[in-house]
Parts: sequence; C-alpha cells; structure tokens
Amino acid sequence: MKLMFVSEEDRAEDWRDELGKYFPEMTFLVWPDDNKVDLDGIDYCLAWKPQRGVLARLSGLKYVQSLGAGVDGLLVDPELPTHIPISRMVDRSLVRGMTEYILYNVIHYHRKMGDYTAQQAAGNWKVVRQVDPRARRIGIMGLGELGRDAAEKMLSLEFDIASWSRSPKNMTGVTSYYGDDGFTIFLTRTDILICLLPLTNATRGIINAENIAKLPEGAVIINCARGGHVVDDDLLAALDSNHIAGACLDVFNEEPLPASHPYWTHPKVRMTPHTASLTNAQSAAAYVAENIRRVERGEHPLNIVDLEAGY
Ligand code: GLV
Repeated sequence: MKLMFVSEEDRAEDWRDELGKYFPEMTFLVWPDDNKVDLDGIDYCLAWKPQRGVLARLSGLKYVQSLGAGVDGLLVDPELPTHIPISRMVDRSLVRGMTEYILYNVIHYHRKMGDYTAQQAAGNWKVVRQVDPRARRIGIMGLGELGRDAAEKMLSLEFDIASWSRSPKNMTGVTSYYGDDGFTIFLTRTDILICLLPLTNATRGIINAENIAKLPEGAVIINCARGGHVVDDDLLAALDSNHIAGACLDVFNEEPLPASHPYWTHPKVRMTPHTASLTNAQSAAAYVAENIRRVERGEHPLNIVDLEAGY
C-alpha cells in the first residue's frame, strides 16, 4: 500500500507516524521530496492545495483525501482526476477548533471587549451598555459540520441564531434562510455575520459592497472560510465609512497576506494567519484510516465531494 502526501503544509511527519499506527506496511511518500519514485504505484493521496497536475500523474490512484474541510485548493486543478472519489476532511478536533475560534470572537464583539481595551489604554473607567444575547442576532453562512457545532454552542448561550445556505436546513433553534430571496432577509437581521461557506463559483466575492450594505449599521463580520469570499476593497470601504464596526479575518485572498496590505494595521480588523482551526493528524488519522479501509474493501470513502456543487 502506497500513500503520497502532497501539501504545502509541513506536517507530513505527523501523518506518517499516525497512519503508520494503522498501516505499518504502508509506504508513505512526500511530494515533492520523493518525486523520483514510481508514481504509478500510488494508491492514496493526502492533499492540501497540491501543485496543479500532480494528482493526474498518479495513474493508479484510488481516492484522494483532502487534508482540509474546504476542498477549493484541490478543485482548482484543471487536471484533477474526476473518476475517483475525493473525501472532505471531517474531524472532531477541526470542528472543536472552529467553534472555539467563533465563540471567542463572537463574545469579543458581543461584550465589546475592543472598547475596553481602548478605554484601558486611555485610563478610562466606563461601563459600556451590554446587550442581552437573545437580542444579539448571529448569522451563520454555511450550516455544515462546522456551522452546526458553532450554532449549537452559541444556542446554549442563548444568542439569536439564523443560518443561510443554498437549501433549507433543519436545526432546532436556528432560523434557516436560503436562496437569493432568503439572503437579503438574512443579512438585514444579522448583527454578527460568520462566513463558513465553501468557496465555489456561487460564493466567490459574496461579501461585497451590495451585500455588506444590507447588514445593519454597526454589524461585524467574522470570516473563517476563505479569503475569496470577501471583496477586500468593499470591506475596507465599509469599515472606513463606519457601516461595519469590525472584521475578524482568518483567511485572505492572498496568503500570507502581503506586508503592505491595509488589513495589517487597520484599527477595526482583527486577524489571524489561517489558523482558526487546523487539521490535526493525531485526531484525524482514524478517519483517514477508516476511509482507506473502505476503499480497500471496494467501498466508497466517507464524505465524498460533489464536484458539481464544489464541496
Ligand atoms: C482549512 O482551511 C480547511 O479547509 O480545513
């Protein structure tokens, strides 16, 4: 059994160790270090933003395991093999990490912690008006594994939660909006907008001037999906005009974010380097091992990407 790790990330050694516990006989190769080996014999691929055309060279490939929840980095490859299944990463620690990130930032904005930081710097003792969580309208774009877990935890804190997706979703306590008509209503009732959408042709640039204008004045935006969802100039203009009170950004159109980008020093932007939630080999290897076993038995791996939908 031969597996190839193709990723910009440098966590190949963790994956080698963890998968080795399930498959001691597995040959684990790392692209591009081991690219002189016989690529024909490779059965499986663990991939994150692989170089275009690499997967097409693996003629014996049986399935591709995405290292991330988002698969846009794979689907941009024009030579991506479409006759074999690609599995999205679904892992409890990835979900937990994202929920931590979302809760931390939602509470930051909800409790106006930025105001207190500024007040402390100015030596100013002043109580800022607190809003009841039941009156704080959270809007989650994308209600998949990540969105549902974050929604569940925020519901336990009694926030007012709505979601927006392509199709209606059924989650107790969460008002589901969908489609184009639902989007406008969803935006106009949202104080804290959280983007967890997959990046597809339908969602690229969705956080643009027209849609931002539909959010109530003083709304904030948390983007932990992909930088491509945001039209940066439109967001910067909305922050500068005070229509949007703050943006928390984990992902960017260009990563690493260029040093000259205005986000770095913008007083209303909080940013992290695409680290909201990381796939951790210790936790996720069991899922990958299960998928490999399924494919070995001639079954499909779990959570196969719908190439048409793009996620
Ligand atoms: C991270 O960005 C992921 O897609 O898991």
